[in-house]
Amino acid sequence: MSLVEIKNSNCKRAIILGSGVSVYEGKEPVASIPYAEIPNWPLGKVKGHKGVLDIYDDLWVLRGRAHLYEGFTWQQACFPTQFLIDHGIEELIVTNSAGGINPKFEIGDLMQITGYLDFIKPGKARGNLEALTQKTIEFQSEQLATNHHGVYVAVHGPNYESDAEVSLFRNLGADAVGMSTAPEIETAVKAGIKITAVSIITNVYGKTEDLGHEGVLAAAKSASAKLTNLLGID
Ligand code: HPA
Repeated sequence: MSLVEIKNSNCKRAIILGSGVSVYEGKEPVASIPYAEIPNWPLGKVKGHKGVLDIYDDLWVLRGRAHLYEGFTWQQACFPTQFLIDHGIEELIVTNSAGGINPKFEIGDLMQITGYLDFIKPGKARGNLEALTQKTIEFQSEQLATNHHGVYVAVHGPNYESDAEVSLFRNLGADAVGMSTAPEIETAVKAGIKITAVSIITNVYGKTEDLGHEGVLAAAKSASAKLTNLLGID
């Protein structure tokens, strides 16, 4: 299938996979399009991201995403979601790995995102006192039977959080922290398509040691089965 043929797909549902998260592993896609072949696609290079758009009959799977900490702009991070919308996708699922701020969380738990704080978008929050009075951006989505439902705070990264940042975010009402997903949610909400977002908790502040990126990948991998079961796409 070529890029032109994508336009003929009747599929309305897509999933964007974060680091180490996998669905339809070993299932042969109808077509597999490297991001590099799609004009203007931001080519993220983070380990654990394959960088392909796999087309299945009932689902488009985006294996990997670009982050602002890799040097991409906010607009570039929004591009893949806008591409999906422009190609007829009406339901988007977004996954990511995130650090637990809520002390009740455990490694491998799933948290459905019910609202988020955006510390990524340039000019809006980063390094700006306005961020301290920022309101959680809420959005509607179907309730999944995840371990938790909570607020995601999106940060620029690539560093993890200091103790002071963790307590600040906790005081602002955040339950988990990560470096993506706000661009995708904002783009989907603006376009009025259905969006569901889930974080896999790969470390918990005050509770677990820093496992590094490899640890994040391992935790995300082990939670993938749980996630695909919940989403009904196993
Ligand atoms: N902070 C930011 N992003 C993350 C974390 C974290 O602790 N864990 C996984 N992604």
